[in-house]
Amino acid sequence: MKKRIVILISGRGSNMAAIAASAKSGILSDCCIVTAVVSNRSEAPGLELAGKSGIPAVVVESSGISGIEFDRKLTKAVEIFSPDYIILAGFMKVLGPVFISRFTGKIINIHPADTKLHRGLGGYEWAFKKRLGTTKVTVHFVDEGLDTGEILGQREVDLRGADTLEEVERRGLAAEHEFFSEILRKIFAGRDSNANEWSDIKCAE
Ligand code: GRF
Repeated sequence: MKKRIVILISGRGSNMAAIAASAKSGILSDCCIVTAVVSNRSEAPGLELAGKSGIPAVVVESSGISGIEFDRKLTKAVEIFSPDYIILAGFMKVLGPVFISRFTGKIINIHPADTKLHRGLGGYEWAFKKRLGTTKVTVHFVDEGLDTGEILGQREVDLRGADTLEEVERRGLAAEHEFFSEILRKIFAGRDSNANEWSDIKCAE
């Protein structure tokens, strides 16, 4: 059975679009269906991208309500789609305890740095300011902490010669877009899979 996934976004949605494309006709096409995109901001450009891909897009506005109220509303909105996994792709809110306990072990995030070295916002600014020769993007389970969940995989990004923040981001995002789908394929196929290459991993029968 293909996994049902809901993708949470707050903004641009380029990782969401990359996963949606993989699920439609790429390396996730036999693994999962994107059942909905949920944004906590009505003006998120990613909502339009979701619409263009024919994916139901839902807004649960986070501004103007308490954290607890948002936590409950978001939980209800996502539950409707009966997801096997919830994918955070540029979702800029820390999830509350109601949501986390309802979906424990099913929430996966991508972070633009090594979560052991840099947590929270500004992963590419951090790498750029430190003039790192390489950085890592990290896919991890989400727990109650800020980028503290179990690491599922990391991809190294070569930053040598990247003289501007824009170039650091460009290289990082290119790695994110490819790596996120690859690691999700492994996870959806079962975490015990011994295969190293995504193409060796079998998903749905
Ligand atoms: C990405 O760099 C992701 O790692 C981070 O937020 C950014 C979202 O970009 N969590 P996009 O909305 O997917 O384009």
